[in-house]
Amino acid sequence: MTLLNLGSFEDQLLIFGGSYGNLQATQALLQVSEKLGIPASHVICNGDCVAYCAQPEETVELIRSSGIKVLMGNCEQSLANGREDCGCGFETGSSCSVLAEDWYPYCAEQLSLDAKRWMGGLPEGLCFDIEGRRFQVVHGGLSAINRFIFASTSTEEKQMEMVLSDADVIIGGHAGLPFGERLGERYWLNSGVIGMPANDGTRDGWYLLLMPNEGKVHCEWHRLSYDARAAQSAMRKLDRFNGYAESLLSGIWPSMDILPDIERNQRGRRLTLESITIPIVNRA
Ligand SMILES: [Fe+2]
Repeated sequence: MTLLNLGSFEDQLLIFGGSYGNLQATQALLQVSEKLGIPASHVICNGDCVAYCAQPEETVELIRSSGIKVLMGNCEQSLANGREDCGCGFETGSSCSVLAEDWYPYCAEQLSLDAKRWMGGLPEGLCFDIEGRRFQVVHGGLSAINRFIFASTSTEEKQMEMVLSDADVIIGGHAGLPFGERLGERYWLNSGVIGMPANDGTRDGWYLLLMPNEGKVHCEWHRLSYDARAAQSAMRKLDRFNGYAESLLSGIWPSMDILPDIERNQRGRRLTLESITIPIVNRA
């Protein structure tokens, strides 16, 4: 994994992922960071800038011009390498895989060569320190870029991933559902995604704020409300990926193939997330 060290931070950071070519959600996210006074150097996108939504090239242009830090997701990796599929790790024949046969070629056609080259140069991991704690941002897992780690993924599986990093806190994306969990003295967080709802019956995306304060790092998840109707209308004009277009307003995913039973059973139930406070440690 190519790991880029961003150094040490003392101010708040905003982390998000999965803009998925949803230009309206991306605009809203950048407006939130501006409103909060968080500079681009403190905003991190953990990958999958493009996927299911209508405006991949415009979304990439906006993200690039904003100057925020961006990590390679499986979508960037596949598009940069000219692969024929999204590399999400969907099983052949599953409905996710069938849906990808529609949106992935669209992204590949729409994106400029320049955007694909930029994607190919992105790091696969980012690390930084806050208050003596080492954080590492990944797309899926440590062992694979397209590893799905959910809240219900077993502690053993998460720990097997964490042995591949010396970080105290891992922040992933990819799976599309935000969560935070303490595992002994370490933590696994998922920022959530902004470009699709969290399958909870609402239109909102999610992002994560890390707020250092008096020797602790407060981790707080927030809903991103945005003009989902405009994002849907851009998709409707294409008359493609209608299942995902529907999701933007219904808040329900068109397929739950990738979800474990616990997350499937939460479909349509409004998601709530407790914040987590991580105490300072002396790594010396
Ligand atoms: Fe992904």
